[in-house]
Amino acid sequence: MDRIAITGGTPLKGEIAIAGAKNSALKLMVASLLTDQPLELENVPAVADVTALVRILEELGVVATAQAGCMRLDAGSIASTVAPYDLVRKMRASVLVLGPLLARCRQARVSLPGGCAIGTRPVDLHIHGLEALGAEIVLDQGYLVGHARGGLVGADIRFPQVSVGATEHVMMAATLARGVTVLRNVAREPEIVDLARCLVAMGARIEGAGGEAIRIEGVERLGGARHRVIPDRIETGTYIMAAAATDGELELLDTSLDHLGAAVDALERSGVAVEATNRGIRVRRANGRLAAVDAATAPYPGFPTDLQAQMMALMTTARGESHLEENIFENRFMHVPELMRMGADIQVHGGSAIVNGVARLRGAPVMATDLRASVCLVLAGLIAEGETVVNRVYHLDRGYERLVEKLGACGALIERQSGSA
Ligand code: UD1
Repeated sequence: MDRIAITGGTPLKGEIAIAGAKNSALKLMVASLLTDQPLELENVPAVADVTALVRILEELGVVATAQAGCMRLDAGSIASTVAPYDLVRKMRASVLVLGPLLARCRQARVSLPGGCAIGTRPVDLHIHGLEALGAEIVLDQGYLVGHARGGLVGADIRFPQVSVGATEHVMMAATLARGVTVLRNVAREPEIVDLARCLVAMGARIEGAGGEAIRIEGVERLGGARHRVIPDRIETGTYIMAAAATDGELELLDTSLDHLGAAVDALERSGVAVEATNRGIRVRRANGRLAAVDAATAPYPGFPTDLQAQMMALMTTARGESHLEENIFENRFMHVPELMRMGADIQVHGGSAIVNGVARLRGAPVMATDLRASVCLVLAGLIAEGETVVNRVYHLDRGYERLVEKLGACGALIERQSGSA
């Protein structure tokens, strides 16, 4: 298993190109199942989750090709409606193929993704939403087996809890349902707006994405489209924090501050200066040591849970006491014991962490349990004195395109080492 070795203490200086949003690209790729015409996606990030999803789509009969920096997905004919366990377990979001397959083929057999290191992460909201559209879904030997014999039918659905995945999943299925669907208490993430824009380009009738309710008028069929994936706001936020953490200065290209309101508010209060440039964003510290600030994760437009771990790395050496609250996922403080091994002073009480800024972190071998926790440890390694070795690099590969190269090009002393962890 590969690992990443970092010698901390060098300020990052230079430019980093931001990739397309992983969490948007994955759903857009799934949307290719809704039409027999090719869907062309620009700015798809080269990350392992995308590769894993391509494998699943290929298993279903989709022909995936790369043409001039653009991913072309052709689901001209669906060869199979079975998404097997061995492929689904590698990438949770692949459960989202269930709804589009039901909408288009009226049947599907999709493995349940199983547990995850950041909590139990059930898919009950997805299933109830599809059932409300008339699908019959049963669990058989670890598989969700769905039928929609007479086709899906539009419905008025209020989600009991806000879920990004369930909103996207049911919105996609409803595009081909008979009649009107209204989704209420929906997630409002930019990735949902991006998906809705692409579906509309494919011929779907969708209004209200990004707001409190989404109205979808089902159509007989969807066609092909060409669509550019939005910039990855989490990758952007991560590199903003990397620049601030190392007291460096970075220009982040092909991105913007548009989708980062709550995170940028917190960072500016801490003493990070962020400004828009004509190529993206420039970031540096405003004046000296950062100050501790509080942040509480919440559905968009709140502070993103996917930046909580990185924020904690930043706060480990800020001046004062920072309170970080995790309100989206249980068990998303797995990075805390690792940060403490590097000398951080953190106390966890349920879903809250109190971080007392220390003068310095010290490098250590560390182990990460999920994608964002891994990158938090990379940030900690960039700040720390001495060497940090981050094990289980495959988590980072899932969601960060060429992380070592991007940081290395800005002066970080970082290298990927192959070998057993
Ligand atoms: C997506 C993102 C993930 C991000 C999260 C929250 C992708 C591939 N992943 O995950 O990076 O951290 O949004 O912004 O886009 N829940 C249920 N039942 C369900 C579905 C969700 O109880 O059927 C719960 C979850 O356990 C969690 C909360 O709802 O506590 C929010 O999860 P959700 O918004 O669905 O996250 P994902 O779509 O899985």
